Amino acid sequence: MSEAAAGGERVPAGFCRDGDGRLLLAGRPAAELVAAAGDTPLFVYVAGLLQTRVAAFRAAMPGDIHLHYAVKANPFPPLMAHMTGLVDGFDIASAGEMAKALEAGMPADRISFAGPGKRDRELQAAIEAGVTLNIESEGELGRAGAIAEALGKTARVALRVNPPFQLKGSGMKMGGNAAPFGVDAAMAPPLLRRMQQAPFELRGLHVFAGSQALSAPAILEAQAATVVLADELSREAGVELPFVNLGGGFGVPYFPGDRELDLAELGDGLTAILAGRAPTLRNARFALELGRWLVAEAGVYLCRIVDRKRSGGETFLVTDGGLHHQLAATGNFGTVIRRNYPVVNASRGGPAAETASVVGCLCTPLDRLADKVEWPQSEIGDLVAVFMAGAYGRSASPEAFLGHPPALEILV
Ligand SMILES: Cc1ncc(COP(=O)(O)O)c(C=O)c1O
Repeated sequence: MSEAAAGGERVPAGFCRDGDGRLLLAGRPAAELVAAAGDTPLFVYVAGLLQTRVAAFRAAMPGDIHLHYAVKANPFPPLMAHMTGLVDGFDIASAGEMAKALEAGMPADRISFAGPGKRDRELQAAIEAGVTLNIESEGELGRAGAIAEALGKTARVALRVNPPFQLKGSGMKMGGNAAPFGVDAAMAPPLLRRMQQAPFELRGLHVFAGSQALSAPAILEAQAATVVLADELSREAGVELPFVNLGGGFGVPYFPGDRELDLAELGDGLTAILAGRAPTLRNARFALELGRWLVAEAGVYLCRIVDRKRSGGETFLVTDGGLHHQLAATGNFGTVIRRNYPVVNASRGGPAAETASVVGCLCTPLDRLADKVEWPQSEIGDLVAVFMAGAYGRSASPEAFLGHPPALEILV
């Protein structure tokens, strides 16, 4: 991550302070955005940074690769509408996300629906809309077929395969083991053959091996293994695959020492992998499905200091925010060791004058937004900015816990 050096604080690229030390987001002071939105806590998403991100992807990756946005990372409707114009498709995980995806203007035939435990009414809604179902089991395929027949419709289906390999170094591994996601590779060929017949339209294969990986070689190894697997399954099943979703797993640097993914290395590597693919896959189109990497760094969570206190020789800055909005930043969403996200006082910059911990307003020791940061002297009323907040923020946090109001959100 590129960081402003002032005071040793970590201000990620895309953000800066003005001459008065106020944090600027999309060129506007944080306090001005809070005034425009009406209150804190507030998630601010910067549209220009989303555009920059997608442009960087397009510049580095092979020209014919499709880019899908996994909307689970951030389903804020204005952000989704903005992404509709930037990417080639959406990946959704529920009928609720499907409704939002269609409302955001994404055409149904560019939406794919993955996730175990789809209910009949969700299968029906997807079939009626013409959304592609990433089929997670033989049972799910059977239910989708029965529903499609009853409706007199064709069900667009792709087979999700639980890969026999993992995405090494990823924060969350979703392959290489017994898993509730997709079908084991050995079970795939007969299902692919069945998916070629009515009432199905075979759209292809979906493999998702892991998430939050920062090593380009590890991601490329998983992509290469996926292309080999697709060829093997295609030949074993005697089926041509029109589309192969290679998953994603692109990570972002949350913590000191994390290095940004090398996009050029990824692009060159994937170009070589696709150029060397087997003849069975000559006509297949390929997609990557990314959530976090597309949106995490475009988001900032702003909350306000409502109290300062001392206890046991330490200073605590108590905010009106917390884990009910930003669970991941408090280290309670899939992290083993709690470390600070980049967090700054958005109201004042300058040299460090005190060491303080920034906590939320929930009555639990888990509600800690930053441990022992070295900041200028902070005052009640100051704004705190937690960066890397564009992915898995509001929608991945226990908002109802303790009955505080939901965070506001704006796209600027
Ligand atoms: C099937 C599937 N696709 C996409 C994603 C998005 O992953 P990320 O936000 O890390 O890119 C996930 C995350 O769990 C997933 O399970």
